[in-house]
Amino acid sequence: MRNLLRTLSVLTLVLSGTALLGPVACGGKTAKVPVMESLDAGPEPVDAEPPAPKTLYERVGGAEKLSAVVDGTLKGAAAHPKLKKSFAKITGPKLETLKKDLNDFLCEQMKGTCKYEGKDMRILTEAQWEPFVEVFVKALSDAGVGEAERDEALTLLTPLHDEMLPKKK
Ligand code: HEM
Repeated sequence: MRNLLRTLSVLTLVLSGTALLGPVACGGKTAKVPVMESLDAGPEPVDAEPPAPKTLYERVGGAEKLSAVVDGTLKGAAAHPKLKKSFAKITGPKLETLKKDLNDFLCEQMKGTCKYEGKDMRILTEAQWEPFVEVFVKALSDAGVGEAERDEALTLLTPLHDEMLPKKK
């Protein structure tokens, strides 16, 4: 009887030990081959971050190109039959201010590093819009700005059309 009891208690010890060690042993085995780790294995790619996309301002050609576009636009406007009444009289320091304003405005719209701090654009008539867009696109093209960038610049300016027109009562 005593022998039987001893055998039983030894058995109990062995079984409970297996039960306790079981998960540890299992865990140990599993931990050696973790699924995610083996999937993630391999060297880190060197250039993980894609380069930031260039702004329209950069793609147009930066400060120098934009300055040529502004000059061309204002010269074109001063010569255009439907715009010259408004633009030809702007000369000297007034023209220089307008150049800077238009430059800062366009640069800001194209996500360049400028900040336009001038007043809102004056109220226009519908009849002046089309000719202005025409001279602006010609100035972009004369400055050598590509078609894709010209289209993008127009897409930026088109929403301004409604804001510039006199409010209908
Ligand atoms: C996308 C279209 C246009 C943009 C982004 C634009 C932008 C500007 C900016 C930033 C100024 C300087 C702020 C001011 O003086 O009010 C300005 C001035 C002016 N704009 Fe425009 N403009 C646009 C279209 C037009 C059109 C269609 C006309 C038609 C006549 C026009 C006529 C003028 C005139 C005459 C001034 C000078 C105001 C002055 O110095 O007294 N603009 N524009």
